[in-house]
Amino acid sequence: MQADLANARLYALSPDEIHVYQADLRVIESLEKALYELLSGDERDRASEFVDALHRLRFVAARGLLRMLLSAYTGQRPGDLQFRYGAQGKPQLCAPAGAGSLEFNLSHSDDVVVYAITRNRAVGGDVEHVKDFSGMEDVAEMSFSPQEVRAWRSFPAGERTKAFYRCWTRKEAFIKAVGSGVSYPLDRFDVTLGDQAELLSLEDDRTKAAEWTLYDCDLSADLAGAVAVHSRGLKLLQFALDAATHSGSPDEIQITASRLGLPGTGIAED
Ligand SMILES: CC(C)(COP(=O)(O)OP(=O)(O)OC[C@H]1O[C@@H](n2cnc3c(N)ncnc32)[C@H](O)[C@@H]1OP(=O)(O)O)[C@@H](O)C(=O)NCCC(=O)NCCS
Repeated sequence: MQADLANARLYALSPDEIHVYQADLRVIESLEKALYELLSGDERDRASEFVDALHRLRFVAARGLLRMLLSAYTGQRPGDLQFRYGAQGKPQLCAPAGAGSLEFNLSHSDDVVVYAITRNRAVGGDVEHVKDFSGMEDVAEMSFSPQEVRAWRSFPAGERTKAFYRCWTRKEAFIKAVGSGVSYPLDRFDVTLGDQAELLSLEDDRTKAAEWTLYDCDLSADLAGAVAVHSRGLKLLQFALDAATHSGSPDEIQITASRLGLPGTGIAED
């Protein structure tokens, strides 16, 4: 099992970086069988619980690809990596030795999956398809803080859908970084809804909030995505999965990814 050696430089992750990968799972659906072989027993059990074949395929592909990516960073075989799970289900690497400093999180929306990988800091990510739906106002009132609801209402009607998803994905990325899932009180922190992602306040404390950084992902217009990290001043590098191929055996899967421009900086691919 190997990642494309031509892209090996992509996998050097310095402690002041976050690497974000986006993948269209349709690119790897033909590898379902090979990727399934990489999964642990408990992951295979989870896969078998999906009644719908498409959902099963997405789970297998996203976990298989996660293992491929983490393998490229750790130098360990994808199938040897072991995860432990936080009280609310957040997966983390626990073995083999040396993998401990890597932190990751992933999010899927239909066929799209986004991975965020960094070292030594809590990280969370969220991706959503941007689509108008009736009842958006009710969901905003239920999920956003009073300050965020006010900010959301201040957007012109034509911009509210985008603002809704910016707020949603930034909040979700934060609670996923914390690992607390739905148990985190969503009105206890405020994020921005405009172009610049930021955690404004946490438990009414701006200093606590300033320990965190929020980033928007650079995705196609029909998607919104955000990453939250418990650190300041990290550089976010974004990559897109180009292709994954294999020649028969799961040991010969190759993945290739290319670097995208950095969001918000205008820095082009090098
Ligand atoms: C799992 C959870 C954290 C996110 O669920 P989701 O939005 O349906 O799913 P996503 O695709 O973004 O993320 C799922 C992945 O996150 C990871 N994950 C699971 N539990 C997690 C947790 N507690 N914290 C962080 N990551 C978690 C897993 O890798 C999971 O994918 P996998 O099991 O297929 O590998 C969910 O429990 C949750 O709390 N949702 C909150 C929804 C909400 O009300 N958000 C309000 C935003 S304003």
